[in-house]
Amino acid sequence: MSITEVKALTTHKHFLTTQDWGWDELSSLIDHAMELKQHPIQPLLKHKSIALVFFNPSLRTRASFDIGASHLGAHAVVLEPGAGSWEMAFGEGEVMDGSAEEHAKEAARVLSRYCDIIAVRAFPKFKDWSVDRQDLVLHTFAKHATVPVINMETITHPCQELAHLMALREHFGTNDLRGKKYVLTWTYHPKPLNTAVANSAALIATRAGMDVTLLCPNEQYLLDERYMNHAAQNAQQTGGSFSVSHDIDSAYAEADVVYAKSWGAIPYFGNWEAEKPMRDQHKHFIVDERKMALTNNAAFSHCLPARRNIKATDAVMDSPNSLIIEEAENRLHVQKALMAAVAGTSN
Ligand code: CP
Repeated sequence: MSITEVKALTTHKHFLTTQDWGWDELSSLIDHAMELKQHPIQPLLKHKSIALVFFNPSLRTRASFDIGASHLGAHAVVLEPGAGSWEMAFGEGEVMDGSAEEHAKEAARVLSRYCDIIAVRAFPKFKDWSVDRQDLVLHTFAKHATVPVINMETITHPCQELAHLMALREHFGTNDLRGKKYVLTWTYHPKPLNTAVANSAALIATRAGMDVTLLCPNEQYLLDERYMNHAAQNAQQTGGSFSVSHDIDSAYAEADVVYAKSWGAIPYFGNWEAEKPMRDQHKHFIVDERKMALTNNAAFSHCLPARRNIKATDAVMDSPNSLIIEEAENRLHVQKALMAAVAGTSN
């Protein structure tokens, strides 16, 4: 084992949230991702392996991690607990008399013997936010793994943050996004969705020093106070701002970036039938040409998947200012930089 490998194993650094990483570290990841975009095939992870543990479906995350690992010479193994690998339990002291056959404590330690990195996707259960906000699956893996753990989306989506930041830097042709007016807009969706990408957008846009407006129908759709507070603190530290608006036209006015996402109202977790009539009243939050015309020729983006003509119109999704495909492509590049960074093989 080389000194670099020993260092990676003994000082392994998880990537659970961008809040744990310094701005210089995040910027370096983007810089490396830019290089990898130009020169995609490099043996940075030759003979290494990564376990991709998916508790939920994926197109972009699964394909980009698997293919990205291959580009760098690593092997990726995809595991879907409960559908091809054993269903897992997570609770501390849990009496495992249900359907789970193994505990994440063993799974994390065993995978650590096989792999150099473990990546985990585990969405909320959408029944009790006070439970979901603990992010138990991710933190159990992080606690018991002896290799770096990457968050592939739980209650935040930090890999999406990196891809989004990279797409904005490319679009505006600068690493300095301070002073840009950034609108994170709630949009309608027929189902209540995860707040992860909205949390993440609020985090990374404020880390970048932008003037961020969270546009949502009413106070029921505010994000968890942890992320509202992080966003406000980030803005204070970077000289940007973080505010809430329920007024569509004033929020869009002169915006430089419009980022769209739908999410379920946190006070209604586990009581979604009661939330639905309220959500159904706000279909007009769709991103359309009229609203985009109010902006400063804003860039539009969304993490995907997105329902066309529900969250955003065809005209917006397909407009020259739409970064949706660039951002999705950037998942590949930023995750390659990230895997090399946590494995200690970036240089
Ligand atoms: N944006 C994103 O994570 O896409 P997938 O759910 O398809 O992985």
